[in-house]
Amino acid sequence: AKITFITKEGETIELEGTSGSVMELAVEHNVKGIDGDCGGVCSCATCHVHVRSEDVSKTGSASEIETDMLELDDFANEYSRLSCQLQISDALDGVVLTIAN
Ligand code: FES
Repeated sequence: AKITFITKEGETIELEGTSGSVMELAVEHNVKGIDGDCGGVCSCATCHVHVRSEDVSKTGSASEIETDMLELDDFANEYSRLSCQLQISDALDGVVLTIAN
């Protein structure tokens, strides 16, 4: 699936992933602003992204644990997701994610 990241600086980074989480893909390619400090277990929010509004149907919505974690984050909004909770599959193809922190 093609995943596009937009950094805080406005840089667009397009990556192609086949498996694993979006956070892992970003960390592997050194996408700035996605750190994945907790290793993908929903407890650090350093993988926080905002999903483009028209792509929410592709990503689905956040789980309860994820929402609880996001509530602690100043940059959270209705389009917030923790990218470690987004599993890469064909369903995500074309998704555009803005890095939140
Ligand atoms: Fe820590 Fe996603 S990597 S919450």
